Amino acid sequence: MEDIKKGLESVIALETSISYIDGINGILEYRGYNINDLSEMPYDAVSYLLIHGELPDEDELEAFSGQLRAEREIDEDTIEFMRMCPYGVEAMDALRTAVSYLSHHDPDMSDCSLDANLRKGIRLIAKFPTIVAAYYRITNGQEPIAPHPSLPHGANFLYMLRGEEPSELEARLMELDFILSAEHELNASTFSVRVAVSTLSDIHSAVIAGLSTLKGPLHGGARLAVMRMLEEVGSPERAEEYVLSLIAEGQRVMGFGHRVYKTYDPRARIYKRLAREIADERGDTRWFRIAESIEEAVQRELVEKQGKPLCPNVDFYSAVVYKYLHIPPEFATSLFAIGRISGWVAHCIEQYADNRVIRPRAKYVGKHHPSR
Ligand SMILES: CC(C)(COP(=O)(O)OP(=O)(O)OC[C@H]1O[C@@H](n2cnc3c(N)ncnc32)[C@H](O)[C@@H]1OP(=O)(O)O)[C@@H](O)C(=O)NCCC(=O)NCCS
Repeated sequence: MEDIKKGLESVIALETSISYIDGINGILEYRGYNINDLSEMPYDAVSYLLIHGELPDEDELEAFSGQLRAEREIDEDTIEFMRMCPYGVEAMDALRTAVSYLSHHDPDMSDCSLDANLRKGIRLIAKFPTIVAAYYRITNGQEPIAPHPSLPHGANFLYMLRGEEPSELEARLMELDFILSAEHELNASTFSVRVAVSTLSDIHSAVIAGLSTLKGPLHGGARLAVMRMLEEVGSPERAEEYVLSLIAEGQRVMGFGHRVYKTYDPRARIYKRLAREIADERGDTRWFRIAESIEEAVQRELVEKQGKPLCPNVDFYSAVVYKYLHIPPEFATSLFAIGRISGWVAHCIEQYADNRVIRPRAKYVGKHHPSR
């Protein structure tokens, strides 16, 4: 009872075969495959891998993609509910309520068998992009666009957002963004998901717990904060002054640091490459140069002068990619959720398969009043 690990740092809470992180050497694997090797695959294949444990063969992938595409649509009631959201409701909050709303219409809602969980998981993975894109258009005074029947996951999302098919590069970046966001061991939101499932609650409820946890600025919400920071900094020349002012105020530089990685986050490396690629293609390197200048200032001021092991994490250069894809900051975390839902579904299934309720202890430090 005495040995408290604040924030559960380094505590091994359970066994998993879904992903592996080596935080010292900066390695991330999904089901034993290095993230770099998965980055050329379709999101559907990675999603299948996470859920089923093996990469699909051609027939399996075709069948799985077919199931996902058949479940992309959301009904008019869900769209109507989004239209009724009060002005200013954030995308993550609308998504969370939409998942709750969808659960009332899911025929498998209270069935927690493996087959039902797979069906519900597929519906959630397929519908997340449609919900977020519909909400984006509604908040912009536009009509939602029905999903495309054949475009890949990432391209379909951008199509529903804009009403036109994206360029090849944009489609590839979106697909890869969803892959890189799909899974990351026992991060805070996945832990919430597993805690909910461990009580034998249902997948929709667990996913709502996950969304509620992902939203916070120390987790997925950091991506939104990084986008706002890039806008606030405005030019590469201002980066150093900005970082110094954050340090002077005792604030954190969003998009840096990680509980597990004490080196460069391998996903951040890939995002950095993609950010440079799209900046060059657009002939506008401003956002990329601002980010690089912030990274250099953090390296100088916090790593070299203060000895803190702070490198860019997944949220830093992904925010730069989103700037070039014209994603508004308020939608950044919901895009993270579109990717992460596959990992959450995989963790739900793994938890159900070998469940024990997750119930740690707390050390009581309050008063004891003598009994009367
Ligand atoms: C990710 C994060 C929550 C991990 O937190 P943690 O493992 O609990 O690390 P700690 O909060 O104990 O930080 C360790 C030290 O590094 C400093 N630090 C950590 N992240 C920092 C950041 N982004 N900027 C400045 N300093 C930071 C802390 O102030 C602390 O310094 P101290 O020892 O002098 O008090 C943390 O790094 C952070 O807040 N990052 C910014 C938010 C973010 O990008 N989140 C997305 C994560 S993928």
